[in-house]
Amino acid sequence: MKANKTNLLKETPIDHEIHDLIKNRWSPRTFSDQPISQNELQILFEAGRWAPSSNNLQPWNMVWGIKGSETYERILNVLVEFNQNWAKNAPVLLLGVIDTKTPKGDDNYHAPHDLGQFAANMAIQAQSMGIAMHQMAGLDYERARKEFKFPETFHVATAIALGYYGGDLSDVPKDLQDAETGERSRKKQNDFVFNGDYRATGDVE
Ligand SMILES: Cc1cc2nc3c(=O)[nH]c(=O)nc-3n(C[C@H](O)[C@H](O)[C@H](O)COP(=O)(O)O)c2cc1C
Repeated sequence: MKANKTNLLKETPIDHEIHDLIKNRWSPRTFSDQPISQNELQILFEAGRWAPSSNNLQPWNMVWGIKGSETYERILNVLVEFNQNWAKNAPVLLLGVIDTKTPKGDDNYHAPHDLGQFAANMAIQAQSMGIAMHQMAGLDYERARKEFKFPETFHVATAIALGYYGGDLSDVPKDLQDAETGERSRKKQNDFVFNGDYRATGDVE
């Protein structure tokens, strides 16, 4: 067994009891080298597929590539360098792409929200299977759109690194190792939950 194994589980300082699948999900930058099968990917996409969306338009699209394939390299190449440095360890890379127009040709302002719900469903399903997801906004979205031949009205919103929790701290550059072992943090509910006007003093602790 190698030293410096990444934590599979991180301390999550919750203020209220929540489901373990939500509490224990986190976004690692190291992954076990256990591969992810196409069947497992289909299960994750199925979880995404049943997410709600505005007018049931389902504006999401996914590009997937398994490590070792040409598609994987093409996805890796559109990530910003910071993300390439660690995402290259992931067994699977994905791109989340939205159609920014409705079938009538109007702007679909809800498409990013809907893709987020797709990703959240996937993340919880993945968590139930011991699989971690690390989403990324750091990519050249215009280059990615052209690279994968999406029409001009589409937007490559996110990339996702997928893999079983695991790996070694030495898999990531030194400056990222602290983040792997560091504490998780969140704003307090009082900072963003209002029982009335914005910034009104609420009763939520
Ligand atoms: C839409 C989105 C974009 C993100 N972009 C990046 C990114 O480009 N690079 C990165 O290392 N992490 C990225 N993250 C991961 C966040 O930094 C992470 O989710 C956040 O710090 C909370 O940590 P947790 O997911 O472990 O709870 C992104 C997450 C989301 C949801």
